[in-house]
Amino acid sequence: MPTLKILPESRISQVASGTGLLEASLTAGVELPQACGGRASCTTCRVLVKEGAAGLSPLRLAEREMLAESGLLGRYRLACQARVLGDVVVERPPWPWLEGVDPTTGEGMHRE
Ligand code: FES
Repeated sequence: MPTLKILPESRISQVASGTGLLEASLTAGVELPQACGGRASCTTCRVLVKEGAAGLSPLRLAEREMLAESGLLGRYRLACQARVLGDVVVERPPWPWLEGVDPTTGEGMHRE
């Protein structure tokens, strides 16, 4: 069974090969946002691949186009599109709302 590790929490989960990265993340205890409902049209579910890129399914057209359009093509993957095939380490983006910041207004954000 492939091992998925999600940073920065360092959550680890073993999942059946072929499990969607979104579902695998949830199994690891990390609920990635999915604003478009998993249709490869937002990037809120994006993760940065830190290790084991070959452990994810190949990019398909919709994911490739969305990542390219967003300037993320390269080391990022959309969790709603990628499947876990081998050991992989990914990092989710920072989530300001976990630090008391209202994502709609920015209220609570530390300014320097
Ligand atoms: S949930 Fe929108 S691209 Fe994955």
